[in-house]
Amino acid sequence: MEVVIVPDATAGGELIAEAIAALLSRKPDALLGVATGSTPLPIYQALTAKVRSGAVDASRARICQLDEYVGLPAGHPESYRSVVLREVIEPLGLSEKSFMGPDGSAEDVQAACEAYDKALTEAGGVDLQLLGIGTDGHIGFNEPCSSLASRTRIKTLTEQTRIDNARFFDDDIAQVPRHVITQGIGTILESRHPVLLATGEGKADAVARTVEGPVASVVPASALQLHPHATVVVDEAAASKLKLADYFRATYAAKPQWQGL
Ligand code: F6R
Repeated sequence: MEVVIVPDATAGGELIAEAIAALLSRKPDALLGVATGSTPLPIYQALTAKVRSGAVDASRARICQLDEYVGLPAGHPESYRSVVLREVIEPLGLSEKSFMGPDGSAEDVQAACEAYDKALTEAGGVDLQLLGIGTDGHIGFNEPCSSLASRTRIKTLTEQTRIDNARFFDDDIAQVPRHVITQGIGTILESRHPVLLATGEGKADAVARTVEGPVASVVPASALQLHPHATVVVDEAAASKLKLADYFRATYAAKPQWQGL
C-alpha cells in the first residue's frame, strides 16, 4: 500500500479531493464510496470548494454509502444517510437520485444487506472508496475479527466504537445504536481504489498496526495490504508510530507528480 504523510488534516483533505477530481475528469460518472465520521469532512470541504469554483464538474458523480446504523428512525440527523446528504450530496449540488445506501430501517436487514452488496456490483463497482479508521482498526464497521472475505452484513459495534461515536449522540452512549450494516471487507477490497484517511494521535496505533503489522482480522484495516492499489493518507500525528515514516516520506517526495495517488 502507498502511505502518504501530510502535515495536517486539511492537507490530507486537499490531496484526496484532488484525486477525486482527477477521477471525475477521466470518468465523470464515477461511483464514489463515502465514509462518515469526523475524518473525511476536510475531503468533502475541499471537493465542494473545487466544485463551486468550477475546477471540478461533479454533476454526474454517483455516491454510495459505506455503512449505516440499524434502527434509527428515517430522517434521524445522525443516520448515515442524513449525514451523507448533509455533508456530501447537498454541498456538491447532487440529487438524491445519484446516491445509494443500505436500508438501515428495513424489516429484513439481511435482505437489505444482500440487496445493497448486489446493487454495488450492478452499478459497476466502486471506483474510489473513502475510508476512515476506528481506534480499534475497523474500516467501515468491520470490527476486530471480522472475516477478511466478508460481504455487506449486519455487525455489532464494540463498546469502544460506541464510546467513540457517543459524541454524535449528545455524549450519551445509550443513544448509540448497537447494530450497523456495513460493506464487508471483501466488498471494500473490490473497490478499484480504497483511500483511507487517518488524522490525530488517537489513530496512530491503529495506523501502525494497519500498515506495518501482519494482515490479521483483529486489525480489519490491515486487509488493505491485500489490495493492489490502496492508499493510506495520514497526518503527522497519525503517522507518529510508523517505523518506516522516513521511507514513506522519501518515496512520496520522489514520486512523479503525474502518477497522482
Ligand atoms: C464511518 C465509518 C467508520 C469511521 C471510523 C472513524 O462511515 O465507516 O469506520 O470512518 O469510525 O471515525 P472518525 O472519522 O469519526 O474518527
